[in-house]
Amino acid sequence: MKIGNVEIPSGLILGPMAGVTDFAFRKICREFGLEMSYTEMVSSKGIYYKDKKTMSLLRIGMEEHPVGVQIFGSDPFFMAEAVKRVQEIVDYEILDINMGCPTPKIVNNGDGSALLKDIDQARKVLEAVKMVSHKPVTVKVRIGWNNIDGTIEFVKMLEDSGADAIAVHGRTREQMYTGKADWNTIKNIKSELKIPVIGNGDIYTLDDAIRRMKESGVDGIMIARGARGNPWLIRDIVTYLKTGKTSNKPKVNEVRDVIMKHLMYAIEDKGEHRAIIELRKHIGWYIKGYKNAAQVRNKINKSSDIQEFENCINELLDN
Ligand SMILES: Cc1cc2nc3c(=O)[nH]c(=O)nc-3n(C[C@H](O)[C@H](O)[C@H](O)COP(=O)(O)O)c2cc1C
Repeated sequence: MKIGNVEIPSGLILGPMAGVTDFAFRKICREFGLEMSYTEMVSSKGIYYKDKKTMSLLRIGMEEHPVGVQIFGSDPFFMAEAVKRVQEIVDYEILDINMGCPTPKIVNNGDGSALLKDIDQARKVLEAVKMVSHKPVTVKVRIGWNNIDGTIEFVKMLEDSGADAIAVHGRTREQMYTGKADWNTIKNIKSELKIPVIGNGDIYTLDDAIRRMKESGVDGIMIARGARGNPWLIRDIVTYLKTGKTSNKPKVNEVRDVIMKHLMYAIEDKGEHRAIIELRKHIGWYIKGYKNAAQVRNKINKSSDIQEFENCINELLDN
C-alpha cells in the first residue's frame, strides 16, 4: 500500500489506542516487523497550548518510521495550528485526523466521531489541515454516528477534500465497541473511493486478516485490540503477507522476555514508577490464557520495583 509518497509494503498498520500504543509498545511492535504505526490521539488544543502531557505523546522512536501523528479536534484554527507546530518539532511521515473516537468526553466537545454527524464541520477541519500540511493526510472514521445512511457521502467528501487515505472502523459511534465490525460497509466504501482504504475491526488472528483483506478488497488493514499482549500477531501477519509463510506460537520464555523488554522501554520513556503501573494492564493481555495468569496478575498489581516485577514474571516460566 502507498499513501501519498509513503510505502507500507505489508499494508498492515497498528491502530492507535490511547493509553496502550505508547512509545514502548510501538517500539516492541516494530521489533516484530510492524511497518506503520500512529501515535495515540493527541489534542490539537493541547499542542497549541504546549501542554506538557500532550507534548509527551508526540515522542517517536528513531526506528519508528514511517509513522503517523494522530490529532483530534473540531476547530479548524486549532487543528491547523497544531499541524504547523507538529511539523516544526516532530519527525513523522503522515498526519492523521481522528474522526472516530466515541468517548463522551471527546464527542461532547464536537471532536472525534461527533464530526461524523456534521459533514460541513468535518470538511472545514480537513481543508484547514490540508492547507498547511506538508505531509499526506489520512482520516480515521467509523461507519457512521448511529446508522450508515450518510456514510458514502461522508467518505466521498473526505476524498474530494484531499484525504490521502482513510481508515474505517466498521462500527457506528452508537455501537461503541459492541456488536461485530461491519466489513460489508467497509467493502462498499472501498468500492466507492479511489484513495487507499484501510479496513479495521475485530482482526484477532492471521486468518481474520487474510479473510478480511480478501473479502473486502481493502488496500490495507489496521489491527488494534488484537495486538494487545500479542505482538506475535503482527509478526505473523507481516510475514505471511510478505512471504506466505506462517509461524509458531511463542514459547513462554519468549513471552517473558518480551514483557521484560517492554518494561525497560516503558521505564526509558516514563520512569520506573509509572512504567510498572502502566505495564500491569499489558501483563494481563500478555499472559491471558496461561494457567496461573490470575495469580501472577494479582502479584504484579502489588509489585512496585523491577526485581519484584521480574520475580512475578519468572513464576510464569516456572509453572
Ligand atoms: C483502549 C482503546 C483506545 C483507543 N484509542 C484510539 C485513539 O486514540 N485513536 C483512534 O483513532 N482510535 C482509538 N481506538 C480505536 C482503535 O484504533 C480501533 O479503531 C478499534 O479498537 C477497532 O479495532 P480493533 O477491533 O482491531 O480493536 C482505541 C481503542 C481502544 C480499545
